Amino acid sequence: MNTEIMPITPESLEKAKNLLLEGQVVAFPTETVYGLGAYAYSEEGIQRIYEAKGRPSDNPLIVHIAPGFDLSAIAREVPAGADALMARFWPGPMTLIMPKNRETIPDSVTAALDTVAIRMPSDPSAMALLRYTGMPIVAPSANTSGRPSPTSAQHVYEDMKGRIPLILDGGSCQVGVESTIVDLTEEKPLVLRPGGITLEMLREFLPEVDLDPAVKAVRSVDASIVPKAPGMKYRHYAPKGYLILTQEGPQDVARHLEEDLQKKPEDRVGAIVSEEFWREMLEASPSLESRAVWISLGSRSDMESVAQRLFAALRQADETGLTRLYGEAFSREGVGEAVMNRFRKAASEWREI
Ligand code: TXA
Ligand code: MG
Repeated sequence: MNTEIMPITPESLEKAKNLLLEGQVVAFPTETVYGLGAYAYSEEGIQRIYEAKGRPSDNPLIVHIAPGFDLSAIAREVPAGADALMARFWPGPMTLIMPKNRETIPDSVTAALDTVAIRMPSDPSAMALLRYTGMPIVAPSANTSGRPSPTSAQHVYEDMKGRIPLILDGGSCQVGVESTIVDLTEEKPLVLRPGGITLEMLREFLPEVDLDPAVKAVRSVDASIVPKAPGMKYRHYAPKGYLILTQEGPQDVARHLEEDLQKKPEDRVGAIVSEEFWREMLEASPSLESRAVWISLGSRSDMESVAQRLFAALRQADETGLTRLYGEAFSREGVGEAVMNRFRKAASEWREI
């Protein structure tokens, strides 16, 4: 299959609409990451998503809608607390779990759960597609299962070339990590996946909301806690090399790299760290500048930009052929929670101090 990349134009939107109606899959940008979209009522399209991604079928999909879409077509009830969150954060990078409308939403979308994930993206390209087609569109992140989520049309092409007919190109994603998922179907509202809308922001409108214990457990690895969002139990985003995410300081990481290079000079080693961290590493060990690869996450004083760069950085580690690399552990404040959640899932090893 030939995979076309097209900017958002009336022609590409018309083409996307026809493909979706035929049960085909179309990749499109959102403010978080690129999605792999199918018409939510097309059994064929849904199956094609799982095939193209190589995704386990017990992992449900998010239904994307445009402003003004009639929620009752998807949810059988709008839970308490939802109105305030929707009014403040939609359109935007927040997904809400609601009781599912069993008459309309196929079981294949929700992996047979009785709930459904709904999101209204704010990205102008996503909005244009949803408005133009008038369709609810199911979309997981447009990576092959296990790889970092794509934040550019080029990333999608790397993973989906030959597997899907069309990628709509809307440039780089602004947020860079997937949407915050809030479950409103239980007594206590829970964040099942941290994202660009932080816990602090949600609490202003829903004071009782908390993090899913399995998300909190990023701190100490406790295998007995099973996350409620099925997708959160998988190792994800992993680069091919051995990634050690560590709370140690720049001097320690510089020393580790020196030792690694001494033991195995043929290895390609590096660090996915902030500018500040790398600078201090070089002060401790200047020769690393030529002997190790630095993949920059920007300044650690700007966590929004760290989030935006993270997935591209993990992909770059593969392109550079790094066999062993170190990642900087950031504070979990604000969007840092989402950054550390994804970084932790990508890592082969987590070192706490
Ligand atoms: O930002 C995003 O949310 C992106 C863009 C494309 O919109 N989409 C995305 O989809 O990240 P995906 O499929 O990669 O992740 C969806 C997550 C999975 O962890 C899945 O298990 C969870 O949402 N999920 C979906 N439906 C659910 C439900 N009914 N109950 C609990 N978790 C659900
Ligand atoms: Mg995903």
